[in-house]
Amino acid sequence: MLDPYKIREDFPILKRKINNYPIIYFDNAATSQKPKQVIEAIKNFYENHNANVHRAVHTLSQEASELYEEAHEEAARFINAKGMEEIIFVRGTTEAINLVAYSWGCHNLTKDDEVIVSLMEHHSNIVPWELLSRVRGFNVVYVNVKKNGKLDYADFENKISKKTKIVCVSHVSNMSGVINDVKRIAKVAHEYNALTLVDGAQSVPHLPVDVNDLDIDFLTFSGHKMLGPTGIGVLYGKREILESMEPFQGGGEMIREVSFNATKKRCSIAWNILPWKFEAGTPNVCGGIGLMEAIKYLKRIGMENVKAHEEILTKYAIQKMAECKKVEIYGPKDTSVKCGIIPFGVEGLSSHDVALFLDNYGIMVRSGFHCAQPLHEIFGLKSSARISFYVYNIREEIDRFIEVLKEIEQI
Ligand SMILES: Cc1ncc(COP(=O)(O)O)c(C=O)c1O
Repeated sequence: MLDPYKIREDFPILKRKINNYPIIYFDNAATSQKPKQVIEAIKNFYENHNANVHRAVHTLSQEASELYEEAHEEAARFINAKGMEEIIFVRGTTEAINLVAYSWGCHNLTKDDEVIVSLMEHHSNIVPWELLSRVRGFNVVYVNVKKNGKLDYADFENKISKKTKIVCVSHVSNMSGVINDVKRIAKVAHEYNALTLVDGAQSVPHLPVDVNDLDIDFLTFSGHKMLGPTGIGVLYGKREILESMEPFQGGGEMIREVSFNATKKRCSIAWNILPWKFEAGTPNVCGGIGLMEAIKYLKRIGMENVKAHEEILTKYAIQKMAECKKVEIYGPKDTSVKCGIIPFGVEGLSSHDVALFLDNYGIMVRSGFHCAQPLHEIFGLKSSARISFYVYNIREEIDRFIEVLKEIEQI
């Protein structure tokens, strides 16, 4: 089992106080805190190895390139991809989904096609498809979410058809924490020759994820939500699909050759090999190295242990929150179908009021609609407050949170 008290010692920010109260950080679904090992790895890179990658023959560039490639390999092993060719470093989940929408969607979707998206999605898995549909003329078809917060699989199976070219769904909802059966979704999608894009922003940091077992075509995730730095994330894609796709952005690094043909008065261009074909320009080298260190940290803990720890905390918090008469938890409360994310409201108060009150006591929670407005609409909500856990959270923090919630109820 994981020892959160020991883990906490690695997180310098948890030693900070706000208004003289120790920080209780329950906004992990938005971004996680960083252990000293990740901070050190970034510092060490800049102090000892900094250079541009894949461009020079000198020692520093060789070292930086090796580290950057090793980071791709580490990410590939973490999700059981076949190799670093299937791992494209991007800014985060948002950029990864946009990459698929533009590189794959622009060239493969026409007006008679359909893209299936669930109503549980973060806006970053809705807006790119809506934007592209305006250019390419295809239909975005939405799969319902039941009132209990679970995906409506019957509705999905009704809506998928030969017109469907890609199914885009989150692995775990960032609002309710509900885990979707993406293996089942991918199986059905493949029966219709459609691809599957899984938004793993809330699953990869918290559960073991194996792309080979799930048999999904694309997986996206963000480094900053899994102990890594901001500005780095991953697009996983099956090699043969990535090979067949056009590049996302043009520039240095993503080409093997650009040669001017004097007769045609044009440049002929040959793409670089995977994954560099999709990484135009100078990449976020130190971000990649920070992400590699974050992955190593999570692997030392073990993803099964991360999942189990969050399940214990979630069960405990749900049980304690039930003692608060004016507090309502939205979505399912059964921890076998959800991750460590709990959206809630306090009768008579806006989510921002609740979050501000908690902040006075050093307790950080999210408020608003968490970039998941359609799901809030399904629950009949304008907004919600949200607590979300990670490896360094402990029961005592939940006890303190409940004490303050009870104070809020007196308002
Ligand atoms: C499910 C989900 N998808 C996508 C995103 C967007 O991630 P990023 O802002 O790192 O690109 C988030 C961020 O909260 C998320 O929770």
